Amino acid sequence: MTETIKIETDLFPVLAYNKAGNGSAIVLLHGFPESRKLWDKVVPFLAAYYKVIVPDMPGSGDSTFNGDEVSMEQLADSVALILEHEHIKEVVIAGHSMGGYAALAFAERYKPKVKGLSLVHSNASADDEPKKELRRKSIELIRKGGREAFIRQMIPNLFSGTFKTNHPKALEANINEGLKLEGRSLIAFYNAMINRPDRISILQNAIFPVQWLAGKEDTIAAPAKMLQQSMLANVNFVSVYPGVAHMSMIEDPERISRDILEFAAYCFSNKPKHVDAK
Ligand code: MLT
Repeated sequence: MTETIKIETDLFPVLAYNKAGNGSAIVLLHGFPESRKLWDKVVPFLAAYYKVIVPDMPGSGDSTFNGDEVSMEQLADSVALILEHEHIKEVVIAGHSMGGYAALAFAERYKPKVKGLSLVHSNASADDEPKKELRRKSIELIRKGGREAFIRQMIPNLFSGTFKTNHPKALEANINEGLKLEGRSLIAFYNAMINRPDRISILQNAIFPVQWLAGKEDTIAAPAKMLQQSMLANVNFVSVYPGVAHMSMIEDPERISRDILEFAAYCFSNKPKHVDAK
C-alpha cells in the first residue's frame, strides 16, 4: 500500500512524498517536468522487498519552494529533510535525469547516507554552453507565455518512436502531468540545471556502487556519454535498454525494476572490498 505524506519544513513550505513497503530504503527522484507519479509503475516491484520513498521535488506535484529559485543542492536538502522525518539513515538513491543531478548533489552533501547511487538516463557532467543556451531560449519562451507550447513540444521527445505509436494515451497522460507544473517551477528547474556544477569527482571518489540505466534511443541522456562515465567509479552496474529512450520507468518498467532490485540487493548486502582498502 502506498501512503502519501506531507510535511512542513523551515526551508520548504510543503514537502510531499509517497511511501510504500518495508525494509532498507530506496529513494526514487523524478526528473523534469514530472512529479512522484513518474515512478508509479516501478514502486510495486520495489516495495515488495524495500521501503520506497518517492518525493515530489519542491516545485513539482504537491511540494513547494519559496521565492523564484531552487538549486540542485536545495533539491538534495529536501530529500535529506524527508529522510530525517522518516528516521532513515542510509539509502540507495535513484534519480531520473534531473533527479540524477539532484541525487549527485545529495551524494556530495550527504555521502555517509548513500549506500548506492543509481543514475537513470542521467550523467554527472555540467551543461555545455550550447545546452545552456537552449535552456535560456526555453526560459524566454515560457516567460513570454509559451509554457504549454514548450511542454507539448518537449515531452514527445522523451519517448521512443515505437512507444509513441503504440501508447498514445500514455504520451498524452505525461503531457498532462507536465502541464501541471507552473512556469515559475519550470524556469527555476532550468536555472538549477544551468547552474549545476560538474560532479564527475563524485563518481571518481565514490565509496558506494553506481548504477547506470541507459536507453539506446535516448537523445537527452546520450547512452555513449553515460557509458563513458560508467568507467569512473570503482563499482558500476550498467544496463542499456534497446527500444527505450529517456523514460524506461514508463517504457519498460519491469526491466528497470529488476535492475534496481538487483543493484539494491548488492548495495545493502555487500560492503565492497575497496571501501575497506581506503
Ligand atoms: C529531465 O528529464 O529531467 C531533463 O530532460 C533533464 C535535462 O534537461 O537535462
